[in-house]
Amino acid sequence: MKTDYFAERAAEWDTPGKISMADNFIKALLSHVELRKEWRGLEIGIGTGLVGLEILPKIDSLVGVDTSKSMLEVLEEKVKDKENVEIVFGELDKYVEKDIDFVFSNMSFHHIENIPETLSHLFEITNPGAIVAVGDIRSEDGSFHRFNPIPHKGFDTNELSDWFEKAGFRVKVVKTYNTLVQEKIPGKISEYEQFILVAERS
Ligand SMILES: C[S@@+](CC[C@H](N)C(=O)[O-])C[C@H]1O[C@@H](n2cnc3c(N)ncnc32)[C@H](O)[C@@H]1O
Repeated sequence: MKTDYFAERAAEWDTPGKISMADNFIKALLSHVELRKEWRGLEIGIGTGLVGLEILPKIDSLVGVDTSKSMLEVLEEKVKDKENVEIVFGELDKYVEKDIDFVFSNMSFHHIENIPETLSHLFEITNPGAIVAVGDIRSEDGSFHRFNPIPHKGFDTNELSDWFEKAGFRVKVVKTYNTLVQEKIPGKISEYEQFILVAERS
């Protein structure tokens, strides 16, 4: 069983800072993707649902995938009366239905070990023409997650785009939509550029 690095943070995740980070991603997403009421959506790394639950009223149904039990417990409480939300605990390959029209993910891709493998699986579970919108940070010096080991210190978006193209997706948009200014190291102000990548499945 992998360590749940979000265990101690889940109950206090929904801070004004995290909510505004989610809102910024949603704004960027909505400026590039016209959501459709008939879509079945899937969020990779849904966490407590800060993005997914805002998107849900604009689509038909939502699958939320996440590897953190504690984050999903917070989400479960929020969606207990909703029949159109399916929660999947684990990596993306736990979801095997081939019925997804729209995929989104906010600040979760840098936690995923094997992106090419994940994108291959994403191709398997999405319908032709499905749209994928990923928000994350561009390559950084490692200070963003100083204390916990993570697989990616942000992304070189050219490399990420190549991975998408090789998995069968056409990249349509790569754009910086925000810069986070944070004091991760005491006395040192760092800037982290957030990008959105939008791709379409062949
Ligand atoms: C920084 S949080 C973002 C949560 C949410 N997207 C938000 O905007 O508030 C990253 C989330 O990704 C989840 N995660 C980490 N590795 C994952 C993986 N391999 N597959 C799916 N989710 C993962 C974490 O458990 C956590 O909930």
